[in-house]
Amino acid sequence: MSTPTLEHEIQRRRTFAIISHPDAGKTTITEKLLLYGGAIHEAGSVTAREGSAHTRSDWMSIEQQRGISISSSALTFEYQGRHINLLDTPGHQDFSEDTYRTLTAADSALMVLDAARGVQAQTEKLFAVCRNRGIPILTFVNKLDRPAQDIFELLQQVEDTLQITAVPLTWPIGDGPDFRGVYDLVQKQVLLFERVARGRSRAPVSLKSVDDPELGSLVGAELHARLQEDVALIEGAMPEFDRDAFLRGEMTPVFFGSAMNNFGVEHFLRTFVELAPAPGPLPTTEGLRSPEEGFAGFIFKLQANMSRNHRDRTAFMRVASGHFERGMDVTHTRTGRKLRLSQAHTLFAQDREKVEDAWPGDIVGLVNPGVFRIGDVISVSPKVQLPDFPRFTPETFATMTLRDVTKRKAFQKGLAQLAEEGVVQVFYPTDGARDPYLGAVGPLQFEVFQARLSEEYGVEVELHVTSYTLVRWLAGDATQVARFARSVEDDQGRPVMLFRSTFDLTYTQDQHPEIEFLPLPQDL
Ligand code: G4P
Repeated sequence: MSTPTLEHEIQRRRTFAIISHPDAGKTTITEKLLLYGGAIHEAGSVTAREGSAHTRSDWMSIEQQRGISISSSALTFEYQGRHINLLDTPGHQDFSEDTYRTLTAADSALMVLDAARGVQAQTEKLFAVCRNRGIPILTFVNKLDRPAQDIFELLQQVEDTLQITAVPLTWPIGDGPDFRGVYDLVQKQVLLFERVARGRSRAPVSLKSVDDPELGSLVGAELHARLQEDVALIEGAMPEFDRDAFLRGEMTPVFFGSAMNNFGVEHFLRTFVELAPAPGPLPTTEGLRSPEEGFAGFIFKLQANMSRNHRDRTAFMRVASGHFERGMDVTHTRTGRKLRLSQAHTLFAQDREKVEDAWPGDIVGLVNPGVFRIGDVISVSPKVQLPDFPRFTPETFATMTLRDVTKRKAFQKGLAQLAEEGVVQVFYPTDGARDPYLGAVGPLQFEVFQARLSEEYGVEVELHVTSYTLVRWLAGDATQVARFARSVEDDQGRPVMLFRSTFDLTYTQDQHPEIEFLPLPQDL
């Protein structure tokens, strides 16, 4: 039953994720958002750095060596009465399964583009995931302090490659060394850019009207004239921003700035809290569940060995409906087990302080004694279950050799736990005689698997990358294809075949019309 408090807490929540190609500026924007949200006082503490209270990811040496963020959880801050949960998605292109899963917990996404590079490969992949889930997307074009592409062309590229209408809400005045600020097309104001020392304090912002003659003396007559021309063109030729089209995922509002210089980010945040949706209903096997119904939450991410001080397994749950309180009695709906989430399941937010209560859109960490799987629901209603969870499609496959055969037990435990997290996918040969294949999107995933197996489970394995590059799930049972050497099963026992090339796949299809291949999740 809905209460005024529940309704209020839902309406003030904004849970979102940032999607971008590596290097576009996701980490920098995250820092600045936290700075404006008051969660940190000085930018620079989000990325793994020693001695920082907000360093969450220094537990894994491979992350430090490579300077990439592999783990993902949520950062939380308050801004203008809104409670914002920013889901931290890994930036590297080899970690897409984790990102897929994280995006299932987001109500909207911010797409960050590099002003010089526009839409890049990883942006496209992640955008497709958001599109499949129908998540509204906002766009921030970053690095305007560097030479940019022609902005009209950049917006055209967004429209052509992503099939979404891009509507600018601000417009840049110059770029690179000539970058002077942005014009706010909605408020009809100009936000002037001033470079501040190392971007470490709030950027000063002054507001003027676009036709103010003083503007000419501030930005120069040439830029002023170009801005007036651009604005006339935008107002004449571009569609008006339509929030409903944005909420349907058909239109993206576009903002411009320079995250490194603290410019444009607060303006974005102010607009974001107004435009982005509050938590919506959850699709379940029994239909949509409103956030105002009784408590239900789903597990979207598992992580083993989160920190050296807490060697344990963590399940991240997104609250989907109702008020979650510590100690409440719930059902783990897949097994029907009753759970009381209190001492037995330590609850924590980002820095492991105990969570007393949480509302739809919030992320809660649960210590996982091996009960939870991805996609599991815990709820006061025993029947709520999720439809299938999205999985990535591996593009590279490896076999393994265990260096010390006496470690087989630890190896199997590590393999099962790391596969459960989505570090890699495991495919088991149907004859059971051979060792499993590992599947990944890119080779870095294999390296992470090897490093974590060694560091966390004390097991050394050699990996041998095979010539398989394609995988297809099959309809029906596996017996009809069991004779093929490349027949395997996924971790849920579903029949799968591996192929070396598209030619190999088409040839097999031609030779064996009796085999029915299922569409890949991204083609659905
Ligand atoms: P990512 O998380 O999307 O991978 O990007 P990240 O924020 O780490 O930014 C990638 C690089 O781009 C960083 O430089 C960062 O400082 C720079 N950058 C981010 N925003 C802007 C911007 O608005 N303007 C300019 N000119 N650069 C920007 P780096 O040299 O790789 O790292 P660092 O030494 O600066 O930390």
